[in-house]
Amino acid sequence: SFSEEKSPLSLPVKKIPVHIKSAQNRILIKGGRVVNHDRIFHADVFIEDGLIKDVGDNLMIPGGAKVIDAKGKYVIPGGIDTNTSLALEFMGTRTADDFYSGTKAALAGGTTMVMNFVLDAKKKSLLDAFEASKSQAELNACCDYAFHVCLLNFNDQVGKEMETLVNQKGVNSFKVFMAYKDYLMVNDADMIKVFKKCKELGAIPMVHAENGDVIDECQKKIKNLGITGPEGHLLSRPESLEAEATNRAITIAHEVNSPVYIVHVMSKSAAMAVSEGKRKGTVVIGEPIAAGLATDGTHYYNKCWRHSAGHVMSPPLREDVSTPGYLMDLLASGDLELTGTDHCVFNTNQKALGKDDFSKIPNGVNGVEDRMTVIWDRGVGTGKMDPCRFVAVTSTNAAKVFNIYPRKGYIGKGSDADVVVWDPDTSKTISVKTHHQAVDFNIFEGMTCQGVPMVVISNGKVVCEEGNLHVSQGAGRFVETPAFPEHVFERIKKRDGLNPAKVDREVYTGPVVDLTKEL
Ligand code: URP
Ligand code: ZN
Ligand code: ZN
Repeated sequence: SFSEEKSPLSLPVKKIPVHIKSAQNRILIKGGRVVNHDRIFHADVFIEDGLIKDVGDNLMIPGGAKVIDAKGKYVIPGGIDTNTSLALEFMGTRTADDFYSGTKAALAGGTTMVMNFVLDAKKKSLLDAFEASKSQAELNACCDYAFHVCLLNFNDQVGKEMETLVNQKGVNSFKVFMAYKDYLMVNDADMIKVFKKCKELGAIPMVHAENGDVIDECQKKIKNLGITGPEGHLLSRPESLEAEATNRAITIAHEVNSPVYIVHVMSKSAAMAVSEGKRKGTVVIGEPIAAGLATDGTHYYNKCWRHSAGHVMSPPLREDVSTPGYLMDLLASGDLELTGTDHCVFNTNQKALGKDDFSKIPNGVNGVEDRMTVIWDRGVGTGKMDPCRFVAVTSTNAAKVFNIYPRKGYIGKGSDADVVVWDPDTSKTISVKTHHQAVDFNIFEGMTCQGVPMVVISNGKVVCEEGNLHVSQGAGRFVETPAFPEHVFERIKKRDGLNPAKVDREVYTGPVVDLTKEL
Protein backbone atom coordinates (compact mmCIF):
# COMPACT_ATOMS: atom_id res chain seq x y z
CA SER A 1 0.00 0.00 0.00
CA PHE A 2 1.03 3.60 -0.47
CA SER A 3 0.70 6.63 1.68
CA GLU A 4 0.02 9.91 -0.05
CA GLU A 5 1.22 12.99 1.69
CA LYS A 6 1.15 16.71 1.18
CA SER A 7 3.85 18.83 2.66
CA PRO A 8 2.79 21.86 4.72
CA LEU A 9 3.78 23.89 1.65
CA SER A 10 1.20 21.91 -0.37
CA LEU A 11 3.80 20.44 -2.62
CA PRO A 12 3.06 16.99 -3.93
CA VAL A 13 5.44 14.41 -2.52
CA LYS A 14 6.48 11.16 -4.19
CA LYS A 15 4.41 8.22 -2.92
CA ILE A 16 6.43 6.01 -0.64
CA PRO A 17 5.45 2.37 -0.07
CA VAL A 18 4.53 2.04 3.62
CA HIS A 19 6.53 -1.17 4.12
CA ILE A 20 9.82 0.54 3.35
CA LYS A 21 9.12 3.33 5.83
CA SER A 22 11.84 2.60 8.30
CA ALA A 23 15.07 3.97 9.65
CA GLN A 24 16.22 4.95 6.17
CA ASN A 25 13.36 7.42 5.89
CA ARG A 26 13.84 8.91 9.36
CA ILE A 27 16.84 10.92 10.34
CA LEU A 28 17.45 12.89 13.48
CA ILE A 29 20.25 15.44 13.37
CA LYS A 30 21.05 16.06 17.02
CA GLY A 31 22.82 18.84 18.83
CA GLY A 32 23.91 21.04 15.92
CA ARG A 33 23.54 24.74 15.30
CA VAL A 34 20.96 25.37 12.61
CA VAL A 35 21.91 28.15 10.21
CA ASN A 36 19.29 29.91 8.12
CA HIS A 37 19.88 33.14 6.19
CA ASP A 38 18.42 35.16 9.07
CA ARG A 39 19.59 33.43 12.25
CA ILE A 40 21.62 30.72 13.92
CA PHE A 41 20.07 28.68 16.70
CA HIS A 42 20.59 25.50 18.60
CA ALA A 43 18.11 22.79 17.54
CA ASP A 44 17.60 19.21 16.48
CA VAL A 45 16.26 18.57 13.00
CA PHE A 46 13.94 15.65 12.32
CA ILE A 47 13.59 14.40 8.76
CA GLU A 48 11.03 11.93 7.48
CA ASP A 49 10.06 10.87 3.97
CA GLY A 50 12.07 13.52 2.23
CA LEU A 51 10.87 16.46 4.29
CA ILE A 52 11.98 18.37 7.34
CA LYS A 53 9.25 17.39 9.80
CA ASP A 54 10.40 19.26 12.87
CA VAL A 55 13.04 21.66 14.13
CA GLY A 56 13.42 22.24 17.86
CA ASP A 57 14.97 21.21 21.13
CA ASN A 58 14.61 17.71 22.56
CA LEU A 59 12.26 16.46 19.86
CA MET A 60 10.17 13.36 20.64
CA ILE A 61 11.11 11.07 17.80
CA PRO A 62 9.39 7.85 16.78
CA GLY A 63 11.69 4.83 16.99
CA GLY A 64 14.01 3.66 14.29
CA ALA A 65 15.46 6.98 13.25
CA LYS A 66 19.07 7.22 12.14
CA VAL A 67 20.71 9.62 14.58
CA ILE A 68 23.48 11.96 13.40
CA ASP A 69 25.51 13.63 16.10
CA ALA A 70 26.02 17.23 14.99
CA LYS A 71 27.64 18.62 18.13
CA GLY A 72 30.04 21.39 17.19
CA LYS A 73 28.71 21.42 13.63
CA TYR A 74 26.40 23.64 11.65
CA VAL A 75 23.22 22.34 10.05
CA ILE A 76 22.66 24.26 6.83
CA PRO A 77 20.39 24.13 3.78
CA GLY A 78 22.00 22.16 0.95
CA GLY A 79 23.70 24.34 -1.64
CA ILE A 80 21.97 25.44 -4.81
CA ASP A 81 24.33 25.89 -7.75
CA THR A 82 22.63 28.44 -10.01
CA ASN A 83 24.89 27.86 -12.99
CA THR A 84 25.87 24.45 -14.35
CA SER A 85 26.33 23.05 -17.83
CA LEU A 86 26.07 19.28 -17.42
CA ALA A 87 25.61 17.10 -20.50
CA LEU A 88 25.86 20.15 -22.72
CA GLU A 89 27.06 20.38 -26.30
CA PHE A 90 29.19 23.46 -26.57
CA MET A 91 31.90 24.71 -28.96
CA GLY A 92 31.67 21.52 -30.97
CA THR A 93 32.05 19.04 -28.15
CA ARG A 94 30.18 17.70 -25.13
CA THR A 95 30.92 18.47 -21.49
CA ALA A 96 32.81 15.73 -19.65
CA ASP A 97 30.33 15.79 -16.77
CA ASP A 98 26.84 14.48 -17.46
CA PHE A 99 23.90 14.61 -15.06
CA TYR A 100 25.12 11.53 -13.18
CA SER A 101 28.76 12.42 -12.58
CA GLY A 102 27.98 16.12 -12.19
CA THR A 103 25.27 15.75 -9.58
CA LYS A 104 27.27 13.08 -7.74
CA ALA A 105 30.11 15.58 -7.49
CA ALA A 106 27.66 18.29 -6.43
CA LEU A 107 26.41 16.14 -3.56
CA ALA A 108 29.95 15.23 -2.50
CA GLY A 109 30.55 18.95 -2.04
CA GLY A 110 27.32 19.78 -0.21
CA THR A 111 25.28 21.05 -3.15
CA THR A 112 21.85 19.42 -3.32
CA MET A 113 20.36 21.19 -6.32
CA VAL A 114 21.73 22.33 -9.66
CA MET A 115 20.24 24.74 -12.15
CA ASN A 116 21.42 23.61 -15.58
CA PHE A 117 21.42 25.27 -18.96
CA VAL A 118 19.49 24.01 -21.95
CA LEU A 119 21.20 25.05 -25.18
CA ASP A 120 19.59 24.51 -28.56
CA ALA A 121 22.58 25.53 -30.70
CA LYS A 122 20.76 24.59 -33.93
CA LYS A 123 17.87 26.96 -33.10
CA LYS A 124 15.32 24.27 -33.94
CA SER A 125 13.02 24.05 -30.95
CA LEU A 126 13.51 25.26 -27.41
CA LEU A 127 10.79 22.88 -26.24
CA ASP A 128 12.44 19.84 -27.82
CA ALA A 129 15.81 20.86 -26.40
CA PHE A 130 14.24 21.33 -22.97
CA GLU A 131 12.47 17.94 -23.07
CA ALA A 132 15.67 16.24 -24.21
CA SER A 133 17.67 17.72 -21.31
CA LYS A 134 14.90 16.90 -18.87
CA SER A 135 14.74 13.23 -19.92
CA GLN A 136 18.49 12.89 -19.53
CA ALA A 137 18.33 14.43 -16.08
CA GLU A 138 15.39 12.22 -15.08
CA LEU A 139 17.41 9.12 -15.82
CA ASN A 140 20.70 10.30 -14.38
CA ALA A 141 20.56 13.11 -11.85
CA CYS A 142 21.28 12.14 -8.24
CA CYS A 143 20.06 15.45 -6.81
CA ASP A 144 17.22 17.83 -7.62
CA TYR A 145 17.56 20.09 -10.64
CA ALA A 146 15.90 22.90 -12.57
CA PHE A 147 16.60 24.49 -15.95
CA HIS A 148 17.46 27.83 -17.49
CA VAL A 149 16.86 27.91 -21.25
CA CYS A 150 19.31 29.76 -23.52
CA LEU A 151 17.90 31.99 -26.25
CA LEU A 152 20.04 32.61 -29.33
CA ASN A 153 17.60 34.93 -31.07
CA PHE A 154 14.06 36.23 -30.74
CA ASN A 155 11.11 35.75 -33.08
CA ASP A 156 7.44 34.70 -32.87
CA GLN A 157 8.28 31.03 -32.42
CA VAL A 158 10.78 31.77 -29.65
CA GLY A 159 8.19 33.96 -27.92
CA LYS A 160 5.56 31.19 -28.11
CA GLU A 161 7.97 28.58 -26.83
CA MET A 162 8.97 30.86 -23.96
CA GLU A 163 5.28 31.11 -23.05
CA THR A 164 4.90 27.34 -23.02
CA LEU A 165 8.09 26.87 -21.02
CA VAL A 166 7.00 29.34 -18.36
CA ASN A 167 3.27 28.58 -18.22
CA GLN A 168 3.38 24.81 -18.60
CA LYS A 169 6.90 23.50 -18.09
CA GLY A 170 8.21 25.07 -14.90
CA VAL A 171 10.93 27.28 -16.39
CA ASN A 172 11.28 30.86 -15.15
CA SER A 173 14.67 31.90 -16.50
CA PHE A 174 16.26 32.43 -19.90
CA LYS A 175 19.87 33.21 -20.76
CA VAL A 176 21.13 35.38 -23.60
CA PHE A 177 24.73 35.84 -24.73
CA MET A 178 26.21 39.21 -25.62
CA ALA A 179 29.38 37.35 -26.69
CA TYR A 180 30.27 34.36 -28.92
CA LYS A 181 29.72 36.29 -32.17
CA ASP A 182 28.34 34.23 -35.07
CA TYR A 183 27.55 31.42 -32.64
CA LEU A 184 25.40 32.33 -29.64
CA MET A 185 25.44 36.13 -29.58
CA VAL A 186 22.25 38.19 -29.75
CA ASN A 187 22.10 41.86 -30.73
CA ASP A 188 20.69 44.58 -28.51
CA ALA A 189 17.40 44.67 -30.41
CA ASP A 190 16.74 40.98 -29.72
CA MET A 191 17.94 41.37 -26.15
CA ILE A 192 15.36 44.12 -25.60
CA LYS A 193 12.64 41.84 -26.98
CA VAL A 194 13.78 39.00 -24.70
CA PHE A 195 13.77 41.27 -21.63
CA LYS A 196 10.26 42.51 -22.46
CA LYS A 197 8.95 39.01 -23.03
CA CYS A 198 10.53 37.78 -19.80
CA LYS A 199 8.93 40.63 -17.92
CA GLU A 200 5.53 39.86 -19.44
CA LEU A 201 5.85 36.19 -18.46
CA GLY A 202 7.34 36.73 -15.01
CA ALA A 203 10.66 35.16 -15.98
CA ILE A 204 14.21 36.27 -15.28
CA PRO A 205 16.49 37.21 -18.16
CA MET A 206 20.06 36.09 -17.49
CA VAL A 207 22.90 37.67 -19.42
CA HIS A 208 26.40 36.59 -20.40
CA ALA A 209 27.84 40.09 -20.51
CA GLU A 210 30.85 40.62 -22.78
CA ASN A 211 31.02 42.72 -25.93
CA GLY A 212 31.23 40.01 -28.61
CA ASP A 213 31.85 42.35 -31.55
CA VAL A 214 34.88 43.91 -29.91
CA ILE A 215 36.16 40.48 -28.75
CA ASP A 216 36.03 39.37 -32.39
CA GLU A 217 38.19 42.36 -33.31
CA CYS A 218 40.60 41.73 -30.42
CA GLN A 219 40.99 38.06 -31.33
CA LYS A 220 42.12 39.04 -34.84
CA LYS A 221 44.56 41.57 -33.40
CA ILE A 222 46.06 39.07 -30.93
CA LYS A 223 46.35 36.33 -33.56
CA ASN A 224 48.11 38.80 -35.88
CA LEU A 225 50.71 39.23 -33.16
CA GLY A 226 51.41 35.51 -33.47
CA ILE A 227 49.82 34.67 -30.11
CA THR A 228 48.02 31.34 -30.33
CA GLY A 229 48.21 30.06 -26.72
CA PRO A 230 45.67 30.41 -23.89
CA GLU A 231 47.10 33.79 -22.84
CA GLY A 232 45.47 35.02 -26.07
CA HIS A 233 42.11 34.15 -24.53
CA LEU A 234 42.74 36.60 -21.69
CA LEU A 235 44.34 39.24 -23.91
CA SER A 236 41.45 39.24 -26.37
CA ARG A 237 38.77 39.62 -23.69
CA PRO A 238 39.74 42.69 -21.68
CA GLU A 239 37.87 43.51 -18.50
CA SER A 240 36.46 46.71 -20.03
CA LEU A 241 34.44 44.59 -22.48
CA GLU A 242 32.81 42.75 -19.60
CA ALA A 243 32.10 45.99 -17.74
CA GLU A 244 30.68 47.69 -20.83
CA ALA A 245 28.32 44.82 -21.64
CA THR A 246 27.26 44.48 -18.00
CA ASN A 247 26.44 48.16 -17.88
CA ARG A 248 24.61 47.95 -21.23
CA ALA A 249 22.45 45.01 -20.11
CA ILE A 250 21.61 46.80 -16.85
CA THR A 251 20.80 50.04 -18.69
CA ILE A 252 18.45 48.23 -21.07
CA ALA A 253 16.77 46.38 -18.20
CA HIS A 254 16.31 49.67 -16.39
CA GLU A 255 14.58 51.28 -19.39
CA VAL A 256 12.20 48.38 -20.06
CA ASN A 257 11.71 47.92 -16.30
CA SER A 258 12.64 44.26 -16.37
CA PRO A 259 14.86 42.47 -13.89
CA VAL A 260 18.25 41.31 -15.11
CA TYR A 261 20.54 38.60 -13.80
CA ILE A 262 24.23 38.87 -14.66
CA VAL A 263 25.75 35.39 -14.78
CA HIS A 264 29.40 34.76 -13.92
CA VAL A 265 30.51 38.25 -12.83
CA MET A 266 34.28 37.88 -13.24
CA SER A 267 35.85 41.31 -12.79
CA LYS A 268 35.96 44.24 -10.41
CA SER A 269 34.55 46.69 -12.94
CA ALA A 270 31.68 44.39 -13.96
CA ALA A 271 30.87 43.89 -10.27
CA MET A 272 30.97 47.65 -9.84
CA ALA A 273 28.49 48.03 -12.71
CA VAL A 274 26.16 45.67 -10.83
CA SER A 275 26.52 47.68 -7.59
CA GLU A 276 25.89 50.94 -9.41
CA GLY A 277 22.87 49.44 -11.14
CA LYS A 278 21.44 48.47 -7.76
CA ARG A 279 22.10 51.94 -6.41
CA LYS A 280 20.27 53.47 -9.37
CA GLY A 281 17.35 51.20 -8.58
CA THR A 282 17.58 48.57 -11.30
CA VAL A 283 16.45 45.11 -10.21
CA VAL A 284 19.79 43.48 -10.97
CA ILE A 285 21.14 40.26 -9.55
CA GLY A 286 24.88 39.58 -9.75
CA GLU A 287 26.26 36.06 -9.66
CA PRO A 288 29.97 35.55 -9.03
CA ILE A 289 31.22 31.98 -9.34
CA ALA A 290 33.55 29.81 -7.31
CA ALA A 291 36.35 30.15 -9.89
CA GLY A 292 36.26 33.94 -9.86
CA LEU A 293 36.07 34.06 -6.06
CA ALA A 294 39.10 31.88 -5.48
CA THR A 295 41.55 31.92 -8.37
CA ASP A 296 42.85 34.35 -10.96
CA GLY A 297 43.99 34.87 -14.54
CA THR A 298 47.75 34.66 -13.93
CA HIS A 299 47.34 30.96 -14.81
CA TYR A 300 46.88 31.92 -18.46
CA TYR A 301 50.60 32.73 -18.54
CA ASN A 302 51.59 29.32 -17.16
CA LYS A 303 54.25 27.64 -19.33
CA CYS A 304 52.32 24.38 -19.30
CA TRP A 305 49.71 24.49 -22.09
CA ARG A 306 47.44 21.97 -20.38
CA HIS A 307 47.44 23.98 -17.15
CA SER A 308 46.80 27.24 -18.90
CA ALA A 309 44.06 25.87 -21.18
CA GLY A 310 42.44 24.23 -18.16
CA HIS A 311 41.57 27.72 -16.91
CA VAL A 312 39.99 28.95 -20.13
CA MET A 313 36.46 30.17 -19.51
CA SER A 314 34.45 33.23 -20.45
CA PRO A 315 34.54 35.90 -19.24
CA PRO A 316 38.12 34.98 -18.31
CA LEU A 317 39.62 34.93 -14.83
CA ARG A 318 41.30 38.28 -14.31
CA GLU A 319 45.00 39.01 -14.18
CA ASP A 320 44.56 41.37 -11.20
CA VAL A 321 45.13 39.03 -8.26
CA SER A 322 43.08 41.18 -5.90
CA THR A 323 39.92 40.49 -7.95
CA PRO A 324 38.76 37.34 -6.08
CA GLY A 325 38.93 39.09 -2.70
CA TYR A 326 37.10 42.09 -4.10
CA LEU A 327 34.31 39.93 -5.53
CA MET A 328 34.05 38.21 -2.14
CA ASP A 329 33.73 41.62 -0.44
CA LEU A 330 30.84 42.54 -2.73
CA LEU A 331 29.23 39.17 -2.17
CA ALA A 332 29.50 39.73 1.57
CA SER A 333 28.07 43.25 1.35
CA GLY A 334 25.03 42.30 -0.72
CA ASP A 335 26.06 44.03 -3.94
CA LEU A 336 26.42 40.55 -5.40
CA GLU A 337 23.67 38.24 -4.35
CA LEU A 338 24.24 34.55 -4.93
CA THR A 339 26.77 32.11 -6.32
CA GLY A 340 27.03 29.45 -8.97
CA THR A 341 30.00 27.77 -10.57
CA ASP A 342 29.51 27.89 -14.34
CA HIS A 343 30.61 24.26 -14.02
CA CYS A 344 31.18 23.39 -17.69
CA VAL A 345 34.07 20.96 -17.95
CA PHE A 346 36.17 19.58 -20.76
CA ASN A 347 39.02 17.10 -20.58
CA THR A 348 42.46 18.03 -21.87
CA ASN A 349 41.92 16.20 -25.16
CA GLN A 350 38.81 18.34 -25.68
CA LYS A 351 40.58 21.56 -24.66
CA ALA A 352 43.18 20.49 -27.26
CA LEU A 353 40.71 21.35 -30.04
CA GLY A 354 42.29 24.77 -29.53
CA LYS A 355 45.94 23.72 -29.21
CA ASP A 356 46.92 25.95 -32.15
CA ASP A 357 44.24 28.61 -31.67
CA PHE A 358 43.11 29.86 -28.25
CA SER A 359 39.72 30.87 -29.65
CA LYS A 360 38.91 27.21 -30.32
CA ILE A 361 39.60 25.99 -26.75
CA PRO A 362 36.21 24.90 -25.36
CA ASN A 363 35.32 27.40 -22.63
CA GLY A 364 34.58 26.23 -19.14
CA VAL A 365 35.95 25.24 -15.74
CA ASN A 366 34.94 23.08 -12.77
CA GLY A 367 33.41 24.04 -9.44
CA VAL A 368 30.16 22.18 -8.74
CA GLU A 369 31.92 20.02 -6.12
CA ASP A 370 34.23 22.75 -4.82
CA ARG A 371 31.98 25.80 -4.46
CA MET A 372 30.75 25.33 -0.90
CA THR A 373 34.13 24.62 0.67
CA VAL A 374 35.91 27.32 -1.37
CA ILE A 375 33.37 30.00 -0.41
CA TRP A 376 33.35 28.95 3.23
CA ASP A 377 37.13 29.11 3.35
CA ARG A 378 37.52 32.40 1.46
CA GLY A 379 34.34 34.00 2.78
CA VAL A 380 33.68 32.78 6.31
CA GLY A 381 37.27 31.78 7.08
CA THR A 382 38.47 35.31 6.30
CA GLY A 383 35.81 36.90 8.49
CA LYS A 384 34.11 38.55 5.53
CA MET A 385 30.86 36.64 5.99
CA ASP A 386 29.10 35.03 8.90
CA PRO A 387 27.51 31.58 8.47
CA CYS A 388 24.10 33.21 7.80
CA ARG A 389 25.47 35.14 4.85
CA PHE A 390 27.17 31.98 3.61
CA VAL A 391 23.80 30.21 3.62
CA ALA A 392 22.18 33.18 1.88
CA VAL A 393 24.71 33.31 -0.97
CA THR A 394 25.07 29.57 -1.47
CA SER A 395 21.41 28.58 -1.17
CA THR A 396 18.64 30.84 0.16
CA ASN A 397 19.01 33.75 -2.25
CA ALA A 398 18.94 31.39 -5.22
CA ALA A 399 15.75 29.82 -3.85
CA LYS A 400 14.18 33.29 -3.48
CA VAL A 401 15.26 34.57 -6.88
CA PHE A 402 14.01 31.45 -8.68
CA ASN A 403 10.84 31.23 -6.59
CA ILE A 404 11.36 27.94 -4.80
CA TYR A 405 11.78 29.36 -1.31
CA PRO A 406 11.12 28.09 1.37
CA ARG A 407 10.80 24.65 -0.18
CA LYS A 408 14.54 25.00 -0.86
CA GLY A 409 17.15 27.13 0.88
CA TYR A 410 15.64 26.85 4.34
CA ILE A 411 15.82 24.62 7.40
CA GLY A 412 12.25 24.62 8.67
CA LYS A 413 9.16 22.48 9.01
CA GLY A 414 7.84 21.48 5.61
CA SER A 415 10.92 22.29 3.58
CA ASP A 416 12.60 19.65 1.43
CA ALA A 417 15.11 17.64 3.41
CA ASP A 418 18.15 18.90 1.50
CA VAL A 419 20.37 19.40 4.49
CA VAL A 420 24.11 19.49 5.10
CA VAL A 421 25.87 18.93 8.40
CA TRP A 422 28.79 21.30 7.98
CA ASP A 423 32.06 20.83 9.80
CA PRO A 424 33.82 24.18 10.20
CA ASP A 425 36.95 22.66 11.75
CA THR A 426 38.00 20.07 9.19
CA SER A 427 40.11 20.95 6.15
CA LYS A 428 40.56 19.31 2.82
CA THR A 429 42.98 19.80 -0.01
CA ILE A 430 41.28 19.91 -3.39
CA SER A 431 42.73 17.66 -6.06
CA VAL A 432 41.80 16.09 -9.35
CA LYS A 433 43.04 12.83 -7.80
CA THR A 434 40.24 12.78 -5.23
CA HIS A 435 37.44 14.83 -6.77
CA HIS A 436 34.27 13.26 -8.20
CA GLN A 437 33.96 15.61 -11.17
CA ALA A 438 34.51 13.57 -14.35
CA VAL A 439 37.25 15.81 -15.66
CA ASP A 440 41.02 15.42 -15.67
CA PHE A 441 41.83 18.88 -14.30
CA ASN A 442 40.81 20.97 -11.30
CA ILE A 443 41.39 24.74 -11.25
CA PHE A 444 41.59 24.65 -7.44
CA GLU A 445 44.31 21.95 -7.42
CA GLY A 446 46.28 21.98 -4.17
CA MET A 447 44.08 24.56 -2.46
CA THR A 448 43.45 23.69 1.18
CA CYS A 449 40.04 24.77 2.40
CA GLN A 450 38.78 24.72 5.95
CA GLY A 451 35.07 23.89 6.28
CA VAL A 452 33.70 20.73 4.67
CA PRO A 453 30.42 18.85 4.48
CA MET A 454 30.36 16.05 7.08
CA VAL A 455 26.96 14.59 6.10
CA VAL A 456 24.92 15.47 3.03
CA ILE A 457 21.21 14.69 2.92
CA SER A 458 19.33 14.94 -0.35
CA ASN A 459 15.56 14.36 -0.47
CA GLY A 460 15.72 12.95 3.04
CA LYS A 461 18.41 10.37 2.23
CA VAL A 462 21.98 10.37 3.49
CA VAL A 463 23.95 10.53 0.24
CA CYS A 464 27.36 11.40 1.59
CA GLU A 465 28.85 10.66 4.98
CA GLU A 466 32.44 11.58 5.86
CA GLY A 467 33.36 11.51 2.20
CA ASN A 468 31.62 8.20 1.40
CA LEU A 469 29.01 8.55 -1.33
CA HIS A 470 25.74 6.60 -1.43
CA VAL A 471 24.02 8.33 -4.31
CA SER A 472 21.42 6.80 -6.57
CA GLN A 473 21.28 7.55 -10.25
CA GLY A 474 17.96 9.07 -11.27
CA ALA A 475 16.83 9.85 -7.71
CA GLY A 476 16.94 13.60 -8.37
CA ARG A 477 13.68 15.32 -9.20
CA PHE A 478 12.84 18.12 -11.58
CA VAL A 479 11.95 21.21 -9.56
CA GLU A 480 9.56 23.56 -11.29
CA THR A 481 10.47 27.21 -10.92
CA PRO A 482 7.21 29.20 -10.91
CA ALA A 483 6.74 32.53 -12.70
CA PHE A 484 6.80 35.93 -10.99
CA PRO A 485 9.16 35.38 -8.06
CA GLU A 486 8.12 38.02 -5.53
CA HIS A 487 11.71 38.66 -4.52
CA VAL A 488 12.29 39.98 -8.03
CA PHE A 489 8.93 41.04 -9.44
CA GLU A 490 7.21 42.93 -6.62
CA ARG A 491 9.37 45.97 -7.33
CA ILE A 492 8.95 45.62 -11.09
CA LYS A 493 5.15 45.47 -10.80
CA LYS A 494 5.02 48.46 -8.48
CA ARG A 495 7.23 50.56 -10.74
CA ASP A 496 5.05 49.80 -13.77
CA GLY A 497 2.33 51.80 -12.09
CA LEU A 498 4.62 54.75 -11.42
CA ASN A 499 4.74 56.37 -14.84
CA PRO A 500 5.59 59.99 -15.60
CA ALA A 501 2.54 62.17 -16.28
CA LYS A 502 2.25 64.60 -19.17
CA VAL A 503 2.28 68.35 -18.55
CA ASP A 504 -1.15 69.96 -19.09
CA ARG A 505 -0.68 73.11 -21.13
CA GLU A 506 -2.57 75.29 -23.62
CA VAL A 507 -2.50 74.09 -27.21
CA TYR A 508 -0.06 75.99 -29.42
CA THR A 509 -2.07 77.85 -32.08
CA GLY A 510 0.64 79.85 -33.88
CA PRO A 511 2.09 79.21 -37.35
CA VAL A 512 3.88 75.96 -38.30
CA VAL A 513 6.57 75.97 -40.95
CA ASP A 514 5.47 74.41 -44.26
CA LEU A 515 8.28 72.02 -45.20
CA THR A 516 7.05 71.45 -48.77
CA LYS A 517 7.53 75.16 -49.51
CA GLU A 518 10.68 75.80 -47.53
CA LEU A 519 12.62 72.94 -49.18
O1 URP B 1 33.31 29.53 -20.23
C1 URP B 1 32.15 29.36 -19.96
N1 URP B 1 31.54 30.26 -19.25
N2 URP B 1 31.52 28.25 -20.39
C2 URP B 1 30.16 27.99 -20.30
C3 URP B 1 29.37 28.73 -21.31
C4 URP B 1 29.16 30.14 -20.92
O2 URP B 1 29.65 31.02 -21.58
O3 URP B 1 28.54 30.38 -19.91
ZN1 ZN C 1 28.09 32.40 -20.12
ZN1 ZN D 1 50.76 22.24 -15.60
